[in-house]
Amino acid sequence: MSNKQFDVVVIGGGPGGYIAAIRAAQLGFNVACIDEWKNAKGGPALGGTCTNVGCIPSKALLQSSEHFEHASKHFADHGIQVEGLGLDLAKMVGRKDAVVKQNNDGITYLFKKNKVTSFHGRGSFVKAGGVGYEIKVAGAAGAEETIEGKHIIVATGSNARALPGAAFDEEFILSNDGALRIPGVPKKLGLIGSGVIGLEMGSVWRRLGAEVTVLEALPTFLGAVDEQIAKEAQKAFVKQGLKIELGVKVGEVKTSKKGVSVAWTNAKGEAQTLEVDKLIVSIGRVPNTIGLNTEAVGLKLDERGAIVVDDECKTSLPNVWAIGDVVRGPMLAHKAEEEGVAVAERIAGQHGHVNFNTIPWVIYTSPEIAWVGQTEQQLKAEGRAYKAGTFPFLANGRARALGDTTGMVKFLADAATDEILGVHIVGPMASELISEAVVAMEFKASAEDIARICHAHPSLSEATKEAALAVDKRTLNF
Ligand code: FAD
Ligand code: NAI
Repeated sequence: MSNKQFDVVVIGGGPGGYIAAIRAAQLGFNVACIDEWKNAKGGPALGGTCTNVGCIPSKALLQSSEHFEHASKHFADHGIQVEGLGLDLAKMVGRKDAVVKQNNDGITYLFKKNKVTSFHGRGSFVKAGGVGYEIKVAGAAGAEETIEGKHIIVATGSNARALPGAAFDEEFILSNDGALRIPGVPKKLGLIGSGVIGLEMGSVWRRLGAEVTVLEALPTFLGAVDEQIAKEAQKAFVKQGLKIELGVKVGEVKTSKKGVSVAWTNAKGEAQTLEVDKLIVSIGRVPNTIGLNTEAVGLKLDERGAIVVDDECKTSLPNVWAIGDVVRGPMLAHKAEEEGVAVAERIAGQHGHVNFNTIPWVIYTSPEIAWVGQTEQQLKAEGRAYKAGTFPFLANGRARALGDTTGMVKFLADAATDEILGVHIVGPMASELISEAVVAMEFKASAEDIARICHAHPSLSEATKEAALAVDKRTLNF
């Protein structure tokens, strides 16, 4: 095999692509990964949306802004007096950039360690041929070369969806990219869409002092979340000062030197105008196949522009696979990673597997929201007989010691077999607590199993045990 020929060529170096490349290399394949993301200096920045303008920078800013809010509002409750508290936004954003770079560098190191050949530039299909497929790499510096792969894994991710007639300029109308690097805290910030990005980014800038208004088209708040949990979360966000308007229709968006003006209609049909300094548009994301030249090989896309795949991530072409945000399913980094591992293992003739029923969701607000499995409204719609148990953090000793008692853990279990069907958490460290529920559901555990396992005291995880006990109405501490 020449140095231009590879067993596996991965297009896209986000969490789907880089993990697929590493796993394929571990399995003994000769692997190349092509990624076009550029850092501020024009160099490579492996890790995709997640590392550069998604999961990692958003969590860095969420952490910093939460520290700020604690120092300004909650330290006093602990008897800690802070004088002269100030905000150095440039430093906060600089820290976020440094965290991103640590992650970029970490992936570069992992590629070297696993002998993955990295190409910086845009990959596109040329034709079927050579050892399998010819892929052109249009280098970031202008040079072009063609490489060949027996197997191709497409992991080109997604892009933010723009509002019709309101293109992102990243100065006034911001996607997730601009939302993570606003140079000064806006006095008034508008958000279109109260989904995951809207709530996370809205929380960051509200904590730093912005007056935040969220305009959401749906009449219900967080419609995909268990209703009881969503209601509890909404109450907490409103109390924090987030203004959330549901059931709205967004009209014309105009920008001027002063800011952005959004015409909208409220749920009663009354015409309104929102004047803000900046507007974040977070109304979902679209699969990205820009520049991939799918037509050259006839790779099939669906009506949303996603690459069509079967349950095993096989596309319409032999030995071409697709994973992550560019295919069906939830747009989550860990889903992309699991698909990447599974595809590498399938290429090696193994039985890679992704269980879509146990993919956890987390919204990293405060309180955090996390869930796995089915919601109560889904079980009702299915007509499934179930039992529910909840336990409030208010009755948990560790939560009281933390000074963070908002929310609850909720278990849903089959009425006859007691198998856990869904676990929903709103409250402190929900992102970490949910893992126990994922493990339990993977092993088809019953609520009784969790209720009988010893949990450390005092810990937030005791709320999980108590919610499992609550399924049979025998909580001990509530
Ligand atoms: P991506 O991460 O988008 O990576 C695709 C890569 O391919 C990019 O580097 C792109 O430049 C490159 N590429 C595209 N086309 C080509 C081409 N033709 N040639 C070469 N390279 C190409 N998910 C979570 O699970 N948890 C979170 O906390 C979370 N937070 C998020 C916060 C925000 C603000 C956003 C926007 C998203 C967040 N997500 C989160 C979602 C997560 O980022 C995505 O689900 C994940 O990045 C998808 O991984 P991927 O590998 O499919 O694609
Ligand atoms: P989203 O799908 O989570 O939410 C979009 C919201 O916008 C919905 O509530 C929708 O009803 C609303 N909407 C759509 N069109 C609208 C319109 N014209 N006017 C008003 N509201 C409108 O999408 P979001 O927040 O953009 O995030 C994209 C994806 O990124 C998420 O679905 C998730 O997969 C991923 N993500 C994951 C995170 C995590 O895991 N913590 C964090 C951030 C993003």
